[in-house]
Amino acid sequence: MKKIKRIGVLTGGGDCPGLNAVIRGVVDTAILDYGIEVYGIRDGYSGLINKKISKLELTDVSGILPRGGTILGTSNRDNPFMYHTNEKDKDGNLKYIDVSKEVLKTVDYNDLDVIITIGGDGTQAIANRLYEECGIPVVGVPKTIDNDIDGTDVTFGFDTALSIATSAIDKLHSTAESHHRIMVIEVMGRYAGWIALHSGIAGGSDVILIPELPFTMDKIAEKINSRTKQGKRFSLITVAEGAKMKGGNVVAQRKVADPNDPIRLGGISTIIGNKIEDLTGIETRFTILGHVQRGGSPSPFDRILATRFGYHAVVAAVEGKFGHLVGVRGEYIKTTPIAEAIAVPRRVKPDSELVKTAMAVGTSFGI
Ligand code: F6P
Repeated sequence: MKKIKRIGVLTGGGDCPGLNAVIRGVVDTAILDYGIEVYGIRDGYSGLINKKISKLELTDVSGILPRGGTILGTSNRDNPFMYHTNEKDKDGNLKYIDVSKEVLKTVDYNDLDVIITIGGDGTQAIANRLYEECGIPVVGVPKTIDNDIDGTDVTFGFDTALSIATSAIDKLHSTAESHHRIMVIEVMGRYAGWIALHSGIAGGSDVILIPELPFTMDKIAEKINSRTKQGKRFSLITVAEGAKMKGGNVVAQRKVADPNDPIRLGGISTIIGNKIEDLTGIETRFTILGHVQRGGSPSPFDRILATRFGYHAVVAAVEGKFGHLVGVRGEYIKTTPIAEAIAVPRRVKPDSELVKTAMAVGTSFGI
């Protein structure tokens, strides 16, 4: 097995709290434990395509553990297999080309023995293609506030987003109570309901709406009306951005031409807020929490998980476990082939213990 001398590291996709903690874990482990050099690749795969690479020293990662974002920069539109150009086709659409050979050249030119790809399913799908189709050794580290990657029990970033969402629900709780209103809070999560389910339970939401359980407005109104009958004059509804009505579609804030990420979710809370006010006659407001859920300092849990992932990614690289993703299973860190880990997104199981618990304490899922 070839001895690893130089590791490249990149962060791809949407940022999330804990990325810097992984980078620090990688750099410190590689240099201190193995004498391996580490090279930071800027702005996700853009750095490999456009040759933005520089050496990372111990001093570069000193003090970054509690910092949000990523010191390397990130991007979710620089897919080497479908890279945007400034040229347009005959219909006026931007042309996309395969620049994966450029990536291979950059890896060879910089003598990188392995690339550690820290990212969500999109970043890992690209990493796996670079490994399988171009022969580039990669080790993946799963990140996302959405918690929707199957190769791990939990992703770092989720716990921080959950705290932010719960704290927002708590704040809306007191103002809802004072004004006797319904408050609808929309949280992120893409097509998975993890943030909504967990923050909804933690914040005591009366209604939780998740993509895995399509809802009806009548059922939501039924729940609010039963609260009114019990003398409860306010209600909290937590809705995942990817939730949809029975027989309906997800609500997109905007659709864009970028084939790598064409749908920007957002806005379902406005629709629910207006309809529920009409159905119940109770004054309603909505809040879309948005990117605030991805910002700021990682929680202690995320810092620890990210540090473990950083350390174990280097170990996996040294052991030649290319094309694998590190993940946590119970109290252990395990690796899984990336292809397997991302084959099916991790979604909330409608009959899971957590959903049953929420229902048992009276939470409605609008079903
Ligand atoms: O995947 C993380 C996430 O924050 C999702 O929850 C959300 O739908 C999406 O990214 C937003 O992406 P962008 O940063 O491109 O707006």
